[in-house]
Amino acid sequence: MSKLVLVIDQGTTGTRAAIFDPEGRPVPGGWSYREHTQIYPRPGWVEHNPLEIWEKTLECIRDAVRRSKVDPGEIAAIGVTNQRETVVVWDVRTGNPLYNAIVWQDRRTAPITDKLKEERLEEIREKTGLIPDPYFSGSKIQWLLENVEGLREKVARREAVFGTIDSWIIWNLTRGSREVLTPEKGGAHVTDYSNASRTMLFNIKRLEWDPELLEAMGGIPEDSLPTPRPSSDPEIYGYTGPELNGIFNGKSIAVAGDAGDQQAALFGQAGFTPGDVKCTYGTGNFILMNTGGEIRYSRSGLLTTVFYSLSKGRATYALEGSIFITGAAIQWLRDGLKLIEVSPEIDPLAESADDTGGLYFVPAFTGLGAPYWDPYARGLIIGITRGTTRKHLARAVLESIAYLTRDVVEAMQADAGYAVRILKADGGAARSDFLLQFQADILGVDVVRPLVRETTALGAAYLAGLAVGVWSSLDEVGRLWREEKRFTPQMSREKREQLYAGWKAAVKRALGWAKE
Ligand code: G3P
Repeated sequence: MSKLVLVIDQGTTGTRAAIFDPEGRPVPGGWSYREHTQIYPRPGWVEHNPLEIWEKTLECIRDAVRRSKVDPGEIAAIGVTNQRETVVVWDVRTGNPLYNAIVWQDRRTAPITDKLKEERLEEIREKTGLIPDPYFSGSKIQWLLENVEGLREKVARREAVFGTIDSWIIWNLTRGSREVLTPEKGGAHVTDYSNASRTMLFNIKRLEWDPELLEAMGGIPEDSLPTPRPSSDPEIYGYTGPELNGIFNGKSIAVAGDAGDQQAALFGQAGFTPGDVKCTYGTGNFILMNTGGEIRYSRSGLLTTVFYSLSKGRATYALEGSIFITGAAIQWLRDGLKLIEVSPEIDPLAESADDTGGLYFVPAFTGLGAPYWDPYARGLIIGITRGTTRKHLARAVLESIAYLTRDVVEAMQADAGYAVRILKADGGAARSDFLLQFQADILGVDVVRPLVRETTALGAAYLAGLAVGVWSSLDEVGRLWREEKRFTPQMSREKREQLYAGWKAAVKRALGWAKE
């Protein structure tokens, strides 16, 4: 029986393909990564080229299969995980995008969401678990309908459809395949509940698109949106189409698992017990806590979201704190300020300072997410003295990531009523021992790093593998999780609180800046 699972992890900065074995280990050589272009047409706007993303996805799959030397016949299923909220609109007849993808970081729809906040805050919070913000897909779709010439007519004629990035990838993977359920649309036009729950259009109780919200956001026709499905559906979303024949030696492979990347990371961290928390240190930081089958609303600025679903009409939920800019601030030190040449240089530089000398850095480049939700906040460096050097700034940037994470963890504990005892860390910047030690110090709890740090890809592999029988239960998957390193708090309580108070004072000054 085929036992391997191939995963596509389509993220904000790049795309990864990875192949996992039944022990949840990456297959040697079975991975590939490609960056794609970031497009900034105006201040606050962020776009991607969907065709470039699809081409790079194909290249990554081809590379991973070739380098691993696995026989495609051994691949039991493909799982997809993705940057969430980003919206693609495409012509289903040609497969051509009708506009660039509008990325989750894009702030152009702030006026739309300001209005929604005034008029429908409670309704949106209750139905979707979200707080109106340009971050989510709904206002981006409204903007496309109102600004792309002829789009509304095309959508009405069912020639154009919208999707999140997972939809775009799955549609392309399954395009032209005989087994596609909706052949008139070219490929399977689906999303999973976890991705749908990030659109601000999806009712997380009923697990359906919400007709009133579709109406409120520019009159979005429901049939232009992907069909919401469980994250690991025994029915399978579709099978790979002819475009992939060359890679898979003509074999059609089941596309069977789908989840937003942050939800997939908690899944890959085996966060199956209510109260389990993970933090992914990526471009931004995303902290998720499993809250079980119950929807818990936040009083502290967190989002309620679908974690995953293993059967139609049912879901496990999570509380989420999204921090927009964390790892991206390290990139800014590298590319914007040219303070370092490559990102890993930040660690030794930061460590060469005993402390920041009172310097604080608030990376509010695109506003602040949880728990502040201020699209008008902007980045700030405060506490500069004659003695401040680049090492202090490097250290302040790393520390800011840990402070922002504590802001979210505190809110989470208050909302969920679970005390966080362990924080499971993953993502690119979790490679930094310095950062994770400071995180443990500033939180006052243990931070653990798993053996497989690609938990996002691993989570999508588990979802796809569960659908086709590579794994048979969550217990079995949970037993595969392995700890690599544990960071235990070493800072005194007094010092921790003193540093954190300074952080809070700095954030206060960054709020509202771009509005004034
Ligand atoms: O909500 C946005 C998030 O899914 C993006 O994640 O890892 O692509 O930065 P990442």
